[in-house]
Amino acid sequence: MTRRDCPPIFRLEGVSYSYLGRYPALQDVNLTICQGEKVVILGANGCGKSTLLKILDGLYPPSAGRIEAFGEDLSRVGDDPAQSQRLHRRVGFVFQDADIQLFSPTVWDDVAFGPLQMGWEQDEVRRRVQEALRLMDVEDLADRAPYELSGGEKKRAAIATALAIDPEVLLLDEPTANLDPRTKAVLVELIARLGEMGKSVVTTTQELEIVPSIAGRVIVFGDKERRPIAEGDADTILDDTDLLVRANLIHQHLHLHGRRAHSHQHSHAGDHDHH
Ligand SMILES: Nc1ncnc2c1ncn2[C@@H]1O[C@H](COP(=O)(O)OP(=O)(O)OP(=O)(O)O)[C@@H](O)[C@H]1O
Ligand SMILES: [Mg+2]
Repeated sequence: MTRRDCPPIFRLEGVSYSYLGRYPALQDVNLTICQGEKVVILGANGCGKSTLLKILDGLYPPSAGRIEAFGEDLSRVGDDPAQSQRLHRRVGFVFQDADIQLFSPTVWDDVAFGPLQMGWEQDEVRRRVQEALRLMDVEDLADRAPYELSGGEKKRAAIATALAIDPEVLLLDEPTANLDPRTKAVLVELIARLGEMGKSVVTTTQELEIVPSIAGRVIVFGDKERRPIAEGDADTILDDTDLLVRANLIHQHLHLHGRRAHSHQHSHAGDHDHH
């Protein structure tokens, strides 16, 4: 998967990960992600998407194999605060579960947490926080407690915490799950804009309809294999019905048309006939 014209950010060789040494989550993953790439990791529940992002973010050491980020071996990053800070200055992670990301008394404090960790001046911290809150359209929520927010508002606040550091790389774990259509569209546009700004963005999802707007490259994970089973551009992947069925990304779907319901193979990404 390595291409000659791309300076790699992440390089995984034979990476496997098992929880508690017993529950396999990733098996023999070989993957290179390059600077400026917009990669979508597409896969069904339990195929290892969140585990992969946590490995990219240095939160879990691989059980086997090797991961490099920016040319550095990450296997001991958990024991090396200096390396961890170097990595987290460059890589921002938005967890699938916003409740994990938001732990401060107010949204402002949560968004300021990263910049304060970086040791930046007060004025710089304030400027970064305001900019991140503005980008995610949550300025009005700054003084609220995270537990007082709706799920979608939490998600936007969680993304603001990652943007506040202005990282080169963003790892977004199912960022549009459970969002209403307008919020989802705003977020998809933002992800696309981050890509245009030259940032590298790795987004996991199982929502096919967001893929064309945010993917330069799509990597499909198999839910049995727990590793990439296909990759390509968005059109190629989304047109491959057999692949999408095999990866449990489309299915027989009870589908409503007006007041009538019927069942047919359904993809949100492509056109289909209704009989
Ligand atoms: N804390 C944990 N302890 C034990 N097993 C885990 C844990 N977290 C995940 N797993 C297992 O690892 C596998 C991969 O999980 P992971 O969360 O990476 O999948 P995912 O692709 O993100 O799924 P989803 O779409 O549901 O978020 C699953 O089989 C899951 O049961
Ligand atoms: Mg997940």
